[in-house]
Amino acid sequence: MKNIEIILKKNIKKFGFISVEKFFNVVLYHDELGYYNNNKIIGKSGDFITAPEISQTFGEILSNSLLLNYSKIKKNKLVSLVELGPGRGFLTRDILRTLKKLNIDFFKKIDAIYFLEKSKSFFRYLKELDLSPSIIDDIGKVSENFNIIIANEFFDALPVNQYIFRKNKWYEIVICLDKNEKFKFSIAKNPTKINFCFPNNPPDGYIFEYSGYMINLLADICKKISSFGGIFILIDYARNKKSKQGTIESLKQHRKVDLFFDLGNCDISYKPDFDLIKKISVNNNCKVFGPFTQSFFLQSYGINERINLLIKNNPKQKNELLLQKLRLIGDNYMGKIFKVLIITDTKYNYEFI
Ligand SMILES: C[S@@+](CC[C@H](N)C(=O)[O-])C[C@H]1O[C@@H](n2cnc3c(N)ncnc32)[C@H](O)[C@@H]1O
Repeated sequence: MKNIEIILKKNIKKFGFISVEKFFNVVLYHDELGYYNNNKIIGKSGDFITAPEISQTFGEILSNSLLLNYSKIKKNKLVSLVELGPGRGFLTRDILRTLKKLNIDFFKKIDAIYFLEKSKSFFRYLKELDLSPSIIDDIGKVSENFNIIIANEFFDALPVNQYIFRKNKWYEIVICLDKNEKFKFSIAKNPTKINFCFPNNPPDGYIFEYSGYMINLLADICKKISSFGGIFILIDYARNKKSKQGTIESLKQHRKVDLFFDLGNCDISYKPDFDLIKKISVNNNCKVFGPFTQSFFLQSYGINERINLLIKNNPKQKNELLLQKLRLIGDNYMGKIFKVLIITDTKYNYEFI
């Protein structure tokens, strides 16, 4: 038996069960055996590939949406750029390159770069970018400036708890052991005490997913934005509102596998609930734009024109560039299922789409 299973089973035997969030916390973040201590997690040879890893245009187009709001952003003396879960940091790299090229005053205003990153295996890449970032483990360490915060596929990587709605009550779903000592999901006997995050009037059997960590982090970000000004652009897989099912899934080398398979060596993620993110942002005095589909957002800010220009300058790469675009905006790729949400302070009249 692999050590990570021994650790989890010991915990379960002690308490009879373990919460879904705690289970996947160990699986993802354990100091030695956790998934994020693996080296090959992103990229073609890893378990998944992300938009900034597919194409430089992702960061470039995101920058366009910021550049169009520069007349408001420039009213602030100093600006920090913060990326949550940057992985190899390609998104921040592409944004800074674009701002430098298209608006040097905007670029010069950025006086600090922060990466909130948990996985030590990415630190090397982040340092190699030559941006002198502060790599932080707590959003509280971000300076009290106007903050531009970006997060691509960050919230979907956070471990969450699951709750099921049955006969007008919410019950936590937990993980325990069957008689053969195999992991299994089970439903807590007593109902859960709910808070404002839980959906109102869901259908029977609906599974709701969230974590206290995610709520607190988002609330802290919104408080910073509403106090010091800022823009937070969040791009993520979105939960399908019509589905009652839980969304946690496990990927190994780009393929879906059983949630308990090869623990510590598979990527575990879920699909965040954008209604919940909006609710928390508005409760914390922020304004919200969207969600927009990734396809609509990228096309509105010029991905077609940008790709055409790149093709004109690199005709031999035409097929490659068109394939990159298709992967970012195609309905059967990332275009529809990924959503973009923008959270801002209420002081300035920003315009997003
Ligand atoms: C799916 S990857 C996305 C990477 C990058 N944003 C991109 O688009 O290529 C998720 C990232 O979030 C980081 N991460 C996961 N949980 C985290 C946490 N609790 N705190 C900070 N970073 C975390 C991972 O290490 C990884 O860099």
